[in-house]
Amino acid sequence: MTRSIFFLTLISISMISCQAPKIQSLADHPFIPYPNQISATDQALSIGAIDQILVAEETLGLGAEIAESWKQLTDQSLEVVTDGAASFQLILEESGQQNEEQYQLQIDNKGITIASGAVVGLYRGWQTLKQLIELRQEAAEKDYLPTGTITDSPDYAYRGTMLDVSRHFFTVDEVKRYIDLIAPYKINYLHLHLSDDQGWRIEIKSWPKLTEIGGTTEVGGGPGGFYTQEQYKDLVAYAQNKHITIVPEIDMPGHTNAALASYAELNCNGTATELYTGTDVGFSTLCVDKEVTYTFVEDVIREISAMTPGPYFHIGGDESHVTPKKDFITFINRVYEILPKYDKIPIGWDEVQLADMPNPSVAQYWANAENALAAKKKGAQLLISPASYAYLDMKYDSLTVSGLKWAGYVPVEKGYSWDPVALVEGIEKEDILGVEAPLWSETVGNSPEMELLAFPRLLGYAEIGWTRPESRNWEAYKARLAQHGKFLDQKAVNFYKSPAVDWK
Ligand code: ACM
Repeated sequence: MTRSIFFLTLISISMISCQAPKIQSLADHPFIPYPNQISATDQALSIGAIDQILVAEETLGLGAEIAESWKQLTDQSLEVVTDGAASFQLILEESGQQNEEQYQLQIDNKGITIASGAVVGLYRGWQTLKQLIELRQEAAEKDYLPTGTITDSPDYAYRGTMLDVSRHFFTVDEVKRYIDLIAPYKINYLHLHLSDDQGWRIEIKSWPKLTEIGGTTEVGGGPGGFYTQEQYKDLVAYAQNKHITIVPEIDMPGHTNAALASYAELNCNGTATELYTGTDVGFSTLCVDKEVTYTFVEDVIREISAMTPGPYFHIGGDESHVTPKKDFITFINRVYEILPKYDKIPIGWDEVQLADMPNPSVAQYWANAENALAAKKKGAQLLISPASYAYLDMKYDSLTVSGLKWAGYVPVEKGYSWDPVALVEGIEKEDILGVEAPLWSETVGNSPEMELLAFPRLLGYAEIGWTRPESRNWEAYKARLAQHGKFLDQKAVNFYKSPAVDWK
């Protein structure tokens, strides 16, 4: 009797241990951005037990995407079903949760659920689960996932990056690849710097010479290029499918030589300028006194806004060194009157605080803390992009080939180790819309060069935007980042293998 109990116990212990091998706890997984709450139960779910995913009508598309990735990542089929008790469930809750990106990912030894009040929250939860599968350890962990519950939501509503497609042009496919690479890190805004002195990059049907002339150059004399309206719409839709919102920027009244070279009437002297392929800044301005300037600006805003479902339109406003201050203020205030007609909220670089900041509006703090404070006092929200911490075009160190150093070197640790709230006295959490890491392309002529500057620093900015400050520290982040080298390698990303990180 005693003997048989002993053997039964032994058998059940061995069965349990066979079903549930000891694997790395959910809390120790190298997630980036790190989730805000993890409650690990330290069991294991067999991936083989997941054979169906339950979706609702609104989540059919996401379910199909998950099933496709599942096959690639686990080599197992996942059937999308719309009723029954599936082992993997996407639950669109009716709760009036405050933050639509909030989600809960629950894994127990029978199955997986992701729950959220919005499809975007389910998508963010899926990115977390995908990292769990993609970065699981080899061998013992290959067939299992650790159990527990992740309850997560972003610290900031806006977590962005900017690509300067004007100084050097980047094709639709190159921008799509960038979108593919940022989506896993829960970045939700992609700001496209679509015009500057060196090139106009978006087709405007009412002003065709902008691209016929202004689109033909770039820094260093390359061929330039532009997006047709169809291509731009395709990019917007591609990003939207990954829950990333495009923010178009038309930089004005300065940084406008490409437009001034395309249309003589935009110049105060009525003569078109020469096209420009250098890298100086601050020498061009639209003619603030001419009414045609505002016709031009409104046409551009109308056409781009019609193709842009997101709430924001970036009007630039930086480094207008040859626009008299009074004219600058007049101009920006006129542009502020145009934007609400097209249902867009203005974002401008921090100099726009000289004008009246409408409510709502956003000032992007890049250089001048006084400007940021003044914009806040006028009622604007702030987008935090301090060049000395968050400019992706700053070199890592003296050995970095592409990039600039006017705001100092930004090694990976410096790029990660700062807090948007602690930068400027008087700027509080509630003043901040979010964080953006811009990548200017004066010295960046192709995608590999762009990737070398963006990665891995962008992962750090993604975490600053998402993860609460109390859960962020360099030592823990560095260990997690090391594991992402494998992921970046798999995607053939030309990332900077910083010696500060012990890459796996
Ligand atoms: C800027 O870097 N000129 C905004």
